[in-house]
Amino acid sequence: MSDILDIDKRHIWHPFTQHASERDPVVVTGAKGACLFDEDGTEILDLISSWWTCIHGHGHPALVEALAVQAAKLDHVMFAGFTHAPAATLSQSLAGVLPGDLTKVFFSDNGSTAVEVALKLAFQYHRNRGESARTEFFAFEGGYHGDTLGAMSLGRGSNFFTLFEDLMCTVHATPYARTWEGDNAIGPREEDALEAFAKALDEHGNKAAAIIIEPLMQGASGFRFSRPEFVRQVSQMARDAGLLVIYDEVATGFGRTGTLFACEQVGFLPDIICLSKALTAGMLPMAVTVAREGVFEAFLSDKFDTALAHGHTFTANPLACAVACKSLELFKQDKALEKVAHIGARNRDQLARLMEHPRTEHARAMGCMLAFELAGSKGHYKTQDGERLRDWYLKNGLNIRPLGPTVYLMPPYCITDEQLTRAYDGLFAGLDQI
Ligand SMILES: Cc1ncc(COP(=O)(O)O)c(C=O)c1O
Repeated sequence: MSDILDIDKRHIWHPFTQHASERDPVVVTGAKGACLFDEDGTEILDLISSWWTCIHGHGHPALVEALAVQAAKLDHVMFAGFTHAPAATLSQSLAGVLPGDLTKVFFSDNGSTAVEVALKLAFQYHRNRGESARTEFFAFEGGYHGDTLGAMSLGRGSNFFTLFEDLMCTVHATPYARTWEGDNAIGPREEDALEAFAKALDEHGNKAAAIIIEPLMQGASGFRFSRPEFVRQVSQMARDAGLLVIYDEVATGFGRTGTLFACEQVGFLPDIICLSKALTAGMLPMAVTVAREGVFEAFLSDKFDTALAHGHTFTANPLACAVACKSLELFKQDKALEKVAHIGARNRDQLARLMEHPRTEHARAMGCMLAFELAGSKGHYKTQDGERLRDWYLKNGLNIRPLGPTVYLMPPYCITDEQLTRAYDGLFAGLDQI
């Protein structure tokens, strides 16, 4: 056993890990582009972009340089009573690329905190306007929004958090209309979901502060895609009932669905949007919760009580802001969305083969993402087939990590044609093994 693994075993508590039975983690010593390298120098194709973050690939020289230059100038400063150029530039750039008047940027550290901030914003927004009865929330079955308490409550329809039910706030989770390639019954499924939503809204809408939606794709509960019109209709119904509409684009943001943000395809302007993961292209932890002007204005008064009394030590860390600014620039310089379109076209070429394969069902593609379920495999987060597949892929140099029965690819945009071919060949070879 290597020294690192030995120390790891003695001291480290890993996320989502049963330490009594989990196999040893891979010791990663380096990463470049779409590849990770282990202690022996073996190359592993990072087909899930290290938890969906590294959009431009690992160690992009422009991001490395932006980080180094900023580190030499200003490493960190508290963000109450101080400000700095990287945060100003980033907030201006985000306001420039986000639709409508989503212009007020609140910084935090990860997807869960971005969601916590959105939840508190929505709650206090109504309080500040004298509507103190709005204390509940709406969300979708299957929605996942992070692992902190508020985020868990909003994700209670995902089955990830049943253990913690007693700690949660009131959230009404209604059915979600998911779809896939060749799905002929999506119309009636959407109607049923909309009917259930309208009924819940009738009953609880006047007590609710907001609805939270992962637009176009529920990520962690299994890459469950929805049609833009479904998201648009639900959003409008919620707004008509007086709820704020929060889009959680922690997973879908920054090009994953084919447009910079999924809300562009939905054609609906949310009141609040949560972004993280690819915000810094995987280099540093950071998140933002961006609100529309009207939301921000509800917090202005001559009393501190109406201000958002929330913050984190590393709020708007200058290093993370500088890297995020550079990552946004790379969308133009590296033609990132064109690369997404190219990956998308290649993914779609695999759909027919996937749909014919006896071990797969519900094949689907969107933006740079390709997903399907293992036919006949039931279960949640970890399944036997999924674990066996993960191990087989890893042994064959592919980081593909099924979510329960869902197998998916979400590669960095820099992945080459040769690497994609290797990914597809390996994907099918693995399916033939189980
Ligand atoms: C849609 C969505 N929201 C929030 C989160 C939580 O983000 P984090 O893991 O950075 O706390 C995730 C993580 O997967 C996510 O997919």
